[in-house]
Amino acid sequence: MKKQILTLITFIAFTITTFADEGMWLPLLVGQKNYTQMTQMGLKLSPQQLYDINNASIKDAVIWFGGGCTGEVISNEGLVLTNHHCGYDAIATLSTPENNRLANGFWALDKSQELPAQGLSVAFLVRMEDVTEKMLVELAKYPADSQLFYAQKEGEKIAKAAKEDGKYEAFVKDMFKGNQFYMFVMERYTDIRLVGTPPESIGKFGGDTDNWMWPRHTGDFSIFRIYTNSNNKPAAYSASNVPFKPKKYFPVSLKGVENGDFAMIFGFPGRTNRYETSMGVKLAIEQTNPAIVKLRTKRLQLMKEQMDANTEVRLQLASRYAQIANYWKYYIGQTEQLKHNKVYERKFAEEEIFKNWGATNPSYTSIFGQLEKEYDIFKKYNKHQVYLGEGIRGSILVAYASAFLDLEKELLKPMADTAKIHALAQVLKFRHTSFYKALYNKESDKEIMVATLEMYYNDIDKAQHPEMLTKLMAKAKKGKETELINKTIEKIVSKTIITDSVKLFKFLDKPNLKTIQKDPAIQYAFAFAKNYNNNYKKYIDAFNFANANFGNKYMKGLMEMQPNKYFYPDANSTMRCTYGNIKDYSPKDAVHYSHFTTLKGIMEKEDPTSDEFVVPTKLKELYKNKDYGQYAGKDGEVPVGFLTTNDITGGNSGSPVINANGELIGTAFDGNWEAMSGDIAFDAQFKRTICVDIRYTLFIIDKLGGATNLIKEMTLIK
Ligand code: ARG
Repeated sequence: MKKQILTLITFIAFTITTFADEGMWLPLLVGQKNYTQMTQMGLKLSPQQLYDINNASIKDAVIWFGGGCTGEVISNEGLVLTNHHCGYDAIATLSTPENNRLANGFWALDKSQELPAQGLSVAFLVRMEDVTEKMLVELAKYPADSQLFYAQKEGEKIAKAAKEDGKYEAFVKDMFKGNQFYMFVMERYTDIRLVGTPPESIGKFGGDTDNWMWPRHTGDFSIFRIYTNSNNKPAAYSASNVPFKPKKYFPVSLKGVENGDFAMIFGFPGRTNRYETSMGVKLAIEQTNPAIVKLRTKRLQLMKEQMDANTEVRLQLASRYAQIANYWKYYIGQTEQLKHNKVYERKFAEEEIFKNWGATNPSYTSIFGQLEKEYDIFKKYNKHQVYLGEGIRGSILVAYASAFLDLEKELLKPMADTAKIHALAQVLKFRHTSFYKALYNKESDKEIMVATLEMYYNDIDKAQHPEMLTKLMAKAKKGKETELINKTIEKIVSKTIITDSVKLFKFLDKPNLKTIQKDPAIQYAFAFAKNYNNNYKKYIDAFNFANANFGNKYMKGLMEMQPNKYFYPDANSTMRCTYGNIKDYSPKDAVHYSHFTTLKGIMEKEDPTSDEFVVPTKLKELYKNKDYGQYAGKDGEVPVGFLTTNDITGGNSGSPVINANGELIGTAFDGNWEAMSGDIAFDAQFKRTICVDIRYTLFIIDKLGGATNLIKEMTLIK
């Protein structure tokens, strides 16, 4: 009886139209399906102003930024706003202990001072197109259960023509777990320059302590500019390149935000898994997340020790450290909130409804039982997989050494292809510079090798260990395991050619099998890789394949079961739009969080003894003198952050937050602790997006940075 009541209640919640705030909608469709609701909520723009391929629209001012962020164009000279944590890698790379722009900030007071950010690129969405019918025709040629496997290949064929011989990038992405397909055509610009950044004490204020949390006081922004050739087209860096003339840029609003105001975000959310099963949730809570957190905790501690001791090391590892720390805390929060928000129970109840609905349809009833069996196998090897990726290969040396596998494979062929060997060696040279040399710090990396080997040895089922490890540890006397591990790693690091770049490059000029087979670091990496590839990878692959097929059917069934519901596809790094409101919330009984923070809060949080809560002297002066210019809110304080109900995830970092008139009011940069389960289940009560108020951004640029040149370049709406 109890269960039935529960089922009925969830059924009602489950079938009503999606909440306004939930959903990462495809901009192409947003004008049709969601438009009425958006205008009811306050939107003043026409569908064509949101997305149009013939005339300038909002989509033309939103860019895919760098390695998985979003940015927006904010002037007619190609000025770009994104998060500080999105520009972080470029800023750290442009810093030295003598000229530490990461620590001190940087402002180009005219264009000649702007700094080329090598390797950074941005891409615009030219257009998107529903290619479902074309794809389904092609996929129908394959056996039913292997169709998804061929989606990538068929997608590449379909996208080929749209590339117009290299003018654009084009790719097909599946939506709704392979039930629909869309093609995206993008144009990439590669001459990107750093224009301005606040000091890290502002751009990362609150550090990892405040990360993923509200109330927040981070000035998480940085400014770049796109440069083009004289025809306004993409070009590699050249001193003669000129600022980009955009089709569209965002005007910037100084009018501020009120609780309840309409707010919309465009951007490139990376990945969600909103239709994950209860089984998947359980595995994440019990196995995957704790394993990731355990390994990352150790790696972070070992990196930090070296970073704190040496500024050069700090600049070298800062960006990698921040990335590891960001998702370390993410997985802690996700586990906590999956439990707190009862996501397993909610998923389970939804699945029960589905099973009842599909009871007469054998293709739907059997899928859960099948998946359960797959999980039983997957569970035995999943941890091994995590410990390889997050543990053993958490060492830069081992990760780099693993990349020699392809070279060995080619050298082992009886008729070795010299051209191919040369090409593989070139890749390894390139990776040496871009990855190994950029990130290798001998002290911390060696300690990471020791620590991760020890964890692997203790935590992974002994039956799954590589023979090399079993043999090695058989020699260890009881209680002396750590000693042996230390000695072994010490030897590997001192004997490998990888740590000697002269020897390494000599080898790569003329690769041979003997060196590979003799090198202790390469052999160490190979022992783990081969053991996994030969014995366990097949189970992981089989699971992923089965899970994808399951998801495809489950999704199809869910859409059949609720024909009147507007579904939105999971995030997959394609452009999306989400709309909602500025809104406060209550995180727990008796606690209320207001929808905005101010400069006052920064002064309250100041702690000179913690590098996460240092407040620059100049900011304190501005505060003391109330030197706020045009940037104070109605209460006389400078606003710093605000909250919206928009539905975003990682990848949306740096996204434009816009008001009902399409004016920029802020930059999205984080999610909140209480809704850290959000990538797996949207929680309408708790889910919030944390944004930098654009007035704080302008205040810092103008009053702290003195870069009035940038303020003048923008179109301010007062
Ligand atoms: N949580 C933010 C995001 O994923 C990143 C914040 C970066 N700051 C940090 N302390 N690691 O978008």
